[in-house]
Amino acid sequence: MVKIGIVGGTGYTGAELLRLLAGHPNAKVTVITSRTEAGIPVSNLYPSLRGVVDLCFSEPDVDSLASCDLVFFATPHGVAQNTVPAILATGTKVIDLSADFRIRDIPLWEQWYGQPHGAAELVPQAVYGLPEYNRSAIQSADLVACPGCYPTSVQLGLMPLLQAGCVDISDLIANAASGVSGAGRQASVANLHPEVSDSFKAYAASGHRHLPEIEQGLADMAGSEVGLTFVPHLLPINRGIHTTLYANLTATEVDVQALFEQCYANEPFVDVLPAGSHPETRSVRGSNFCRISVHRPGNGKKVVVLVVEDNLTKGASGQAVQCMNIMFALPETAGLSMAGMVP
Ligand SMILES: NC(=O)c1ccc[n+]([C@@H]2O[C@H](COP(=O)([O-])OP(=O)(O)OC[C@H]3O[C@@H](n4cnc5c(N)ncnc54)[C@H](OP(=O)(O)O)[C@@H]3O)[C@@H](O)[C@H]2O)c1
Repeated sequence: MVKIGIVGGTGYTGAELLRLLAGHPNAKVTVITSRTEAGIPVSNLYPSLRGVVDLCFSEPDVDSLASCDLVFFATPHGVAQNTVPAILATGTKVIDLSADFRIRDIPLWEQWYGQPHGAAELVPQAVYGLPEYNRSAIQSADLVACPGCYPTSVQLGLMPLLQAGCVDISDLIANAASGVSGAGRQASVANLHPEVSDSFKAYAASGHRHLPEIEQGLADMAGSEVGLTFVPHLLPINRGIHTTLYANLTATEVDVQALFEQCYANEPFVDVLPAGSHPETRSVRGSNFCRISVHRPGNGKKVVVLVVEDNLTKGASGQAVQCMNIMFALPETAGLSMAGMVP
């Protein structure tokens, strides 16, 4: 059994890790931290985990976390970088769900996150945890930087086109809409039910923190810098991301449906739908699947890719467990084979 610690157990991604790991055949959570709920049974906060998780929250503490084989950080940016160096020094592996170790360019990270980086020396050894792109590097990693939720959907949706070199990489467009749990569990007026329900809006259209992460990942896939317009939207649902991607084909003879099917033929969690399909967020709710369909309106040069994922699962905690499985040479689908919850 892999012994697991989770820092940030009261948040949405922490609770999702608990839900997923409770059903994992090869992993056991032994430490779950919260500064605000220390001493309180997990099931008091999350009755859905009553009878499933028999642990109390404890204060984050390096010694108890170091007794684990792996620690997940499900904390806001700026937190993991303070403690990860001490944990890694004990031989315990780390998967960070925050943005702390995702961006290789430290000044760029500091510009977007508005603070100095506290563990810049660890960034070069962090492996970006997108299994479909980086599987072999994840296998031998001690520190994995789990991708953001929007970046996962955009990169999986564009990867086949970029690797095939068949689109104009100077003008890519991503319109992405996320359910409200994407903002985390912290109280904020903007995320109250009357503020978000029965409405739909874009935000951060002139610049979102996920932009540099997405641009870095797409450039890695394309082999050179890309031009990306990224517009996030707030969708009045609890879980789910729907991303619509637009690119101009430079090679119009390419069969984009076959390209996507071949690229993801052996991927357990990327499902390329039949031609003409439109994926729905509810088809992936609570599951680790990413469902993709690809269209070419009027058989012209524009290719439109539709991507859905659950922001808390393939967009965060499910992907983190998938990385754990790879790091510990477990079956990649262990603990992750549940279907989406419909209706
Ligand atoms: N929500 C998503 O869909 C999503 C998707 C992908 C990635 N992410 C990323 O995953 C991370 C967690 O997101 P979330 O939505 O789960 O956030 P959240 O709901 O706001 O939860 C944050 C957790 O971190 C803990 N925490 C906060 N400050 C801490 C500190 N200084 N030391 C130790 N623990 C601290 C909090 O617990 P206490 O205050 O009780 O200690 C809480 O359990 C974020 O970096 C986020 O960007 C989120």
